[in-house]
Amino acid sequence: MAMKIKTVVGGMVNEDIKMENKTVLITGANTGMGLATAIDMARRGAKVLMTSRSMEKGNEAKETVVKESGSESVVVKQLDLSSMESIRALAQDINSTESRLDVLINNAGVMMCNQSKTKEGFEMQFGVNHLGHFLLTNLLLDLLKKSAPSRVVTLSSGMHQKFLGAAIHWDDINLEKSYTPSKAYAQSKLMNVLFSRQLSKRLEGTGVTTYSVDPGAVKTDLQRHVGKAENPTFMDRMFSGVTWLTRRFWRTPEVGAQTQIYCAVAPELEKETGRFYKDVKLGNESNDAKNDDFAKRLWDLSEEYVASKKNSESEPGKTGAGDAQQAESKETSEKPKEDAQEITEEPEKSAVETPSKDSDS
Ligand SMILES: NC(=O)c1ccc[n+]([C@@H]2O[C@H](COP(=O)([O-])OP(=O)(O)OC[C@H]3O[C@@H](n4cnc5c(N)ncnc54)[C@H](OP(=O)(O)O)[C@@H]3O)[C@@H](O)[C@H]2O)c1
Repeated sequence: MAMKIKTVVGGMVNEDIKMENKTVLITGANTGMGLATAIDMARRGAKVLMTSRSMEKGNEAKETVVKESGSESVVVKQLDLSSMESIRALAQDINSTESRLDVLINNAGVMMCNQSKTKEGFEMQFGVNHLGHFLLTNLLLDLLKKSAPSRVVTLSSGMHQKFLGAAIHWDDINLEKSYTPSKAYAQSKLMNVLFSRQLSKRLEGTGVTTYSVDPGAVKTDLQRHVGKAENPTFMDRMFSGVTWLTRRFWRTPEVGAQTQIYCAVAPELEKETGRFYKDVKLGNESNDAKNDDFAKRLWDLSEEYVASKKNSESEPGKTGAGDAQQAESKETSEKPKEDAQEITEEPEKSAVETPSKDSDS
């Protein structure tokens, strides 16, 4: 009698689910859950594309993956998500060298750093955690569509919840007026769920499905900035206190990575899309994370920001920190792009339509 494979066994994703002949790209794969996921995917037989900010760290991590998995099908690619130039270069490389992409795991992240900006002048956590992955995903969509059924898995966090301070600050997305490390992280993690939700709608009928993930509390390098805020607020202090007290009991990266692995490989999820997962099963995202108006508005805004930076690259002297805000107020007769693919093909024509400016949600 044929045995039915159980996808999850004791909280871990069944290793019998194979990924042979599949290509998986994982951002931030040199450490933490990205590295644990890379080892897991290589063990399942996938070709693994690991991105790392530093090639040195990436190559060291690759050695670990090869040693732990026994697979040689592992490639390191340089990617700094705080630079759109770096994101575009990686996408161009992947699109010209890879014949398929079955799973994209938007895993990289920065948490609660002091106020700083990406190369294009966006607030760092917004720029790296959301906007960088927004651009990368859009630039890889054709390849994902060509490889369908394929998946986009995006790491969020329990910190996307409103009771932990998460909100989209529509009138101050870059938090120039009111930056705090925890507010910026929480905003970016709420954006991750909204992005995944809106992406699923745009990809209806393509065979590309999307998943957002809360991995729980996991002992990794992510906490490197926690407790180092220059002007800590009550929330910042609370997070560092709780981290200090409880960190020793947190999940290992291997256990923490199980939910993203589940979303990447579980056969029963092939037809599910746009949902949120936690503890290796469907989870409960916050009401704000289920708000379709927010999801669409964030998409349109992100598209405008990305397009405004592509435009400014061809206009020297217009790449300063305030450009994103300038772009918001710029009026043109063109409409925002209807199709994400146009980010790839005709960025110069992408328009900047002023979004309505409601106050904070
Ligand atoms: N750990 C947790 O408790 C927890 C909880 C909820 C959600 N998450 C989410 O899980 C994901 C993975 O986190 P982790 O815990 O595994 O953290 P981690 O060990 O710190 O790994 C984060 C990865 O992101 C990379 N990264 C940071 N800034 C980058 C940039 N500008 N460009 C490209 N890569 C960049 C890091 O590279 P470097 O090594 O060069 O810095 C590293 O490879 C994150 O999205 C995080 O928000 C984690």
